[in-house]
Amino acid sequence: MDQHIQSLLNRLSCAAVTVATVTLILLFAQTPETCITDEPIAPQIRFPKSSCEATHREFVSIEKKNKRLWSTRDWRKKVDSFTELFHGIRHLGLLTNHSRVLCVSSGAGHEVMALSEMGVIDITGVELVDSPPLVSRADPHNLPFFDGVFDVAFSAHLAEALFPSRFVTEMERTVRPGGVCVLVVEQCSEEDLQEIKAMFQSSSLLGARNVTLFGLKMIQILLRNRIPP
Ligand SMILES: *[C@@H]1O[C@H](CO)[C@@H](O)[C@H](O)[C@H]1NC(C)=O
Repeated sequence: MDQHIQSLLNRLSCAAVTVATVTLILLFAQTPETCITDEPIAPQIRFPKSSCEATHREFVSIEKKNKRLWSTRDWRKKVDSFTELFHGIRHLGLLTNHSRVLCVSSGAGHEVMALSEMGVIDITGVELVDSPPLVSRADPHNLPFFDGVFDVAFSAHLAEALFPSRFVTEMERTVRPGGVCVLVVEQCSEEDLQEIKAMFQSSSLLGARNVTLFGLKMIQILLRNRIPP
């Protein structure tokens, strides 16, 4: 009887070893389907279904990304809109090819490209998030530039500033005496205009006029930094 049980146990363990071995061989033989596929994947069309698949996404260089962005109609339209605006400023004699220009809160850099295409050589674009090669990262409330190093400071994004008066003070600080600050703001009341002007403590108003930017009616405010006596 004991012998009988012994041989039964032996046979059972033999069977278990066989099953385990076969399973192991099958596991080795089968390629996992998740990570290796031969089909080419267009990265922009499909979202990865698993973290495994994400490894297929090609690295898109900055040059390639910019080429894509800069060839869109929206990009071109906005750059052209800025070009028109800057032509107006140049016409007033406030901007030349040799002006050192600062663009504050310049987003992805439409205005920087517009100036560059016009022939302006020395342009600095800053924004909280950088967009190389047009825009570097800097906080508009704390510009990393010495006093008076620019001839022109431009911004169309005062409305988005957390602290408008700090934003304005920084623009004014980095512009040389005799240089100009240019703001483009949404249409507003005379009272609001005075309020904006009052934030510039060392500049005099050169003028405010209606302009069109991105098809919207806006007001362009020009201020000249006073030359100390
Ligand atoms: C400014 O630069 C542009 C492009 O290089 C050129 O076509 C234009 O004549 C220049 N303007 C002046 C006034 O030098």
